[in-house]
Amino acid sequence: MTFYSRIAGTGSYLPAKVLSNQDLEGSVETSDEWIFSRTGIRQRHIAADNEFASDLALKASQRALEAAGVAATDLSLIIVATTTPDMVFPSTACILQAKLGAKLGGLNCPAFDVQAVCSGFVYALTTADNFMRSGQYQNILVVGAEVYSRILDWEDRTTCVLFGDGAGAVVLKRSDAPGILSAHLHADGSHAHILSVPGSVNGGKISGRPLLQMEGNAVFKFAVRVLGEVAEEALAANHMDKSQIDWLIPHQANIRIIQATAKKLGMPMEKVIATVDRHANTSAASIPLALDTAVRDGRIRAGQHVLMEGVGGGFTWGAVLVRM
Ligand code: ACO
Repeated sequence: MTFYSRIAGTGSYLPAKVLSNQDLEGSVETSDEWIFSRTGIRQRHIAADNEFASDLALKASQRALEAAGVAATDLSLIIVATTTPDMVFPSTACILQAKLGAKLGGLNCPAFDVQAVCSGFVYALTTADNFMRSGQYQNILVVGAEVYSRILDWEDRTTCVLFGDGAGAVVLKRSDAPGILSAHLHADGSHAHILSVPGSVNGGKISGRPLLQMEGNAVFKFAVRVLGEVAEEALAANHMDKSQIDWLIPHQANIRIIQATAKKLGMPMEKVIATVDRHANTSAASIPLALDTAVRDGRIRAGQHVLMEGVGGGFTWGAVLVRM
């Protein structure tokens, strides 16, 4: 028997505090006009001091579980994609499991984190799909949750204007028909220097500089190239033409990257889900946040084909093609 994964429910959560481009004009030398014209971003959400990735993940997960009609106690696996975990360990997934109370009939469901930066959700979804195909699991919770506000240099205008906090989640149910049609992952560690958070814990002290640094132009070019390539790879693997894709959900980093990717693929922007104006770049949370937005506003419907693709630090990149 062949087993597949079907997305049975989606959910998302954004912290209450909204930081607009105008608000940033007061703290760094920038302008709403510069930020919007270069990135398409108008605002971002910022977690409260006492809110951690697991708190954002919890709210997004509860909404996804409710939409899927699955109880937390019926989860057989939890995977959280995050680059901004609550702590070094336990994993954010384990902390989330405790907050959800997701214990399975005396056995505790496994839980672990995936760290692939802005491709984290695509990596986590792919991992979950492979577990599902093994036939060992029934209901899998996959979450992207980030608090990038904690790893930004708020005095560096070239990076602090680009990111935000948030979480998105999906519940996968085992199905006898796909669901997830195919997944394609890649990495190239030789570009680490153009996008990184070069800090670590060393003997109880922080060594290095645990704040995001980036060569924006180099990231831009790399992102446009690989997002185009991996989308073509997913289409070819399924013998599909781009006209058969109902919705493209690219990682939400910059509207110009999104537009350039859509143009390369020959897809009209009407078929592209873009939330970067309201959410900014929420890294591993950006794709599930955009997915949930478009599911809840009725654009994405059952039976449609959705191509999700991400690129991020590492470098990592990948795509997942789904029939909803
Ligand atoms: N406000 C005003 N001016 C600014 C700001 C700002 N926030 N940031 C930079 N500038 C200035 C620069 O100092 C520079 O000034 P100069 O000409 O006097 O030296 C000028 O604006 C142009 O800077 P560039 O870096 O050339 O601007 P560019 O048009 O390339 O846009 C940007 C920069 C938005 C970062 C772009 O390169 C980009 O989006 N890159 C992709 C990076 C990205 O999205 N990363 C997210 C993480 S990775 C991922 O998710 C894929």
